[in-house]
Amino acid sequence: MAFQKHILCIGAGYVGGPTMAMIALKCPQYKVTVVDINPRRIAEWNSDLLPIYEPGLDDVVKTARGRNLFFNTDVEKGIQEADIIFVSVNTPTKTFGAGAGMAADLQYWEKTARQIRENSDSPKIIVEKSTLPVKTALAMERILTSDSKVPFEVLSNPEFLAEGTAIRDLENPDRVLIGSRETESGLKARAELVAVYANWVPKEKIITTNTWSSELSKLVSNAFLAQRVSSINAISALCERAEANVSEVSRAVGMDSRVGSKFLNASVGFGGSCFKKDILNMVYLCRFYGLSEVADYWEGVVKINEYQKERFVMNMLQAMFNTLAGKKICLFGFAFKADTGDTRESPAIFIAKRLCEERAHLMITDPKALDNAKTDLKGVVGDIEYVADPYTAASGCDAIAVMTEWKLYKELDYQKIYHSMVKPAFIFDGRNILNHQTLFDMGFNVFPIGKPPLTHFKRES
Ligand SMILES: NC(=O)c1ccc[n+]([C@@H]2O[C@H](COP(=O)([O-])OP(=O)(O)OC[C@H]3O[C@@H](n4cnc5c(N)ncnc54)[C@H](O)[C@@H]3O)[C@@H](O)[C@H]2O)c1
Repeated sequence: MAFQKHILCIGAGYVGGPTMAMIALKCPQYKVTVVDINPRRIAEWNSDLLPIYEPGLDDVVKTARGRNLFFNTDVEKGIQEADIIFVSVNTPTKTFGAGAGMAADLQYWEKTARQIRENSDSPKIIVEKSTLPVKTALAMERILTSDSKVPFEVLSNPEFLAEGTAIRDLENPDRVLIGSRETESGLKARAELVAVYANWVPKEKIITTNTWSSELSKLVSNAFLAQRVSSINAISALCERAEANVSEVSRAVGMDSRVGSKFLNASVGFGGSCFKKDILNMVYLCRFYGLSEVADYWEGVVKINEYQKERFVMNMLQAMFNTLAGKKICLFGFAFKADTGDTRESPAIFIAKRLCEERAHLMITDPKALDNAKTDLKGVVGDIEYVADPYTAASGCDAIAVMTEWKLYKELDYQKIYHSMVKPAFIFDGRNILNHQTLFDMGFNVFPIGKPPLTHFKRES
């Protein structure tokens, strides 16, 4: 069958894979190819065990794969064939040189730009899907157009999907954002990308802006989301001192329609590959433009997150009589959030490392993230075991610390768990997902976030 359009995506990760699978599902008239330099990842995309866990993803991939969705490692051929090229390579925080620890590392990005230029002999639309610093499209344009025979148009189309709900978010997005140059050719390319999404996204949800607004909106969007988490987490510390209850506070605040209720759950801290990196990226940009007050303001969001994780460990230490050495602690969950196996920047990594420093013995359980946990903690000095079954993991432990809000942890038989644990038994609910009063009534000493603890110890006089 002759396809109307050839779409290529460079980078078969958490964004490239699901996004392209959705385009292929909704647009059988297009051929969608996803390429990656990592052959193992591509082999997994072509197998029954996809490289990422995402509810609903298997069905979407199974429907489209081999029909109009293809995964391979032939980046050059993919570029030659394509009319539209999405670039969805990783843009981690730079670990070396100027801007180390803050700025985005654009080496994968730039390599891709050069590779596109070298393998193109027909006009192409290049779409930035990765999250990038403002003005990256300009750098891309410069690389593409220096010494090139064919015209390129660079668009910004940041991805707003959240891991764990990626398929739902892609199928029914709050908005699709497309930024372009406001020239004749820029507007033409923009219209072409709008037409792709219009195959399933209502027109009023597809918003268009200039390129720089689009690039910046993605950073700002993540910064605002993370800021809400840090705001409520900062308040959780105050609630613990003031004997207030953060859930009650967040409910009262969130019911103000000017504020809204989402992203107001206190927790052990935010994780994921994006929030910290994107805020630091924005902080770096602000400093670059000499806006040190603005930079400090946003950097505070990251600092509160670090503080919240450390505070969690200190609360554990204090509650368990100021020593964790030799105690067995079970981490319920390792993924940075529920419904994903992704552990990048998961608070559980920090907490596991700190608990090892305190010489605790760790039992780690998670339904999807144990392999990643093993990789994250490779080389950490300590006594760590990885156990798939939560009952086995908790058995013989002094404490359970809930790291991830997996639904299954709400549904366990805690009476059975209590009987298998060392006494006094502790639960530190880093996600506030459990029924604290019921656990207390069973005999647990319960330490939620931002709420008075429920303990069986007599108060000190
Ligand atoms: N993960 C998310 O939830 C999310 C959401 C929105 C936006 N983003 C952004 O999307 C981008 C990608 O994120 P991700 O989570 O999918 O990353 P990822 O690390 O899962 O995937 C990136 C892929 O790109 C491949 N790659 C790198 N250089 C390449 C090259 N030169 N040619 C071909 N393939 C190459 C890597 O092998 C990897 O498989 C980032 O900029 C991120 O900030 C991520």
